[in-house]
Amino acid sequence: MVTYPSNIDSLISTYDFHNDKSLDAFTPIFDDCQNRIKQYGINSNTYGLRIIQPHLLRVSHLAKRFLIDVLNYDEVAAENVFQANLLQDFGKTHESCLPRNWTLETRAPDEIKEQNKWHTIRGVELLDEVMTEHKLSKELIAHPHVQVTKSIMNYHHEQHNGQGRHEIAGADLGQVMPVICLFDAYDGDLIFRPHQDEPRTVGIELDRLQEKPKYQGAFTEKLLKQLVEFKATIKELEEFFEQDGSTARQDLIPNPKKVAPTQMTI
Ligand SMILES: [Fe+2]
Ligand SMILES: [Fe+2]
Repeated sequence: MVTYPSNIDSLISTYDFHNDKSLDAFTPIFDDCQNRIKQYGINSNTYGLRIIQPHLLRVSHLAKRFLIDVLNYDEVAAENVFQANLLQDFGKTHESCLPRNWTLETRAPDEIKEQNKWHTIRGVELLDEVMTEHKLSKELIAHPHVQVTKSIMNYHHEQHNGQGRHEIAGADLGQVMPVICLFDAYDGDLIFRPHQDEPRTVGIELDRLQEKPKYQGAFTEKLLKQLVEFKATIKELEEFFEQDGSTARQDLIPNPKKVAPTQMTI
């Protein structure tokens, strides 16, 4: 039984994603998963292509820069996290998660929210299925990159206070996983939803993470302080996202009465 830890602090420094030849066999699996994300909702709201994939890219960029600039990880370890995080929300492509349920005109009812929360666990299950389909070797299934990928899928909605999906708290999350959880929450909140009147700004979102009751105790004071100190880099990355075709924030459902997210002010 291959395990995937909630604390990935040391695991991310045990390999080099771009120079590990054994990981070549993982490439078709990664591509298969990415294609499934891109195809998700392709005939309806194109949610996978327009929302999930750019979201994963933005979270990867933010987390990587934070790991290097703030937590002093080296480029290789941070890049390993960048790559693993690109499959973070793969579980959303599971048949139990209908694309339209992410873009409802009103707030999602509790039963749909509850159903959608399972995407963390579904991601791991789906990746296992894809690896079996591709007949990936036992050695590669046990590769640290596969473990890190599964860890991020499974634990990216955890909270410091233990009120996340798997109720893993505090030190058991290490220092890297909370960074992914934080930027996932940050970026997820900045995705413009059809039921909102206008998109949130980065400034508003940074305040929300510190003050909103929903996030009370979700992140440590230290991490939130580091986030505020990281604000200049966030602004820099937000400008990059707007210019970069693959990470740009887009209006999910065009509505002339609403402000387009591209007009979002930082
Ligand atoms: Fe997620
Ligand atoms: Fe996410």
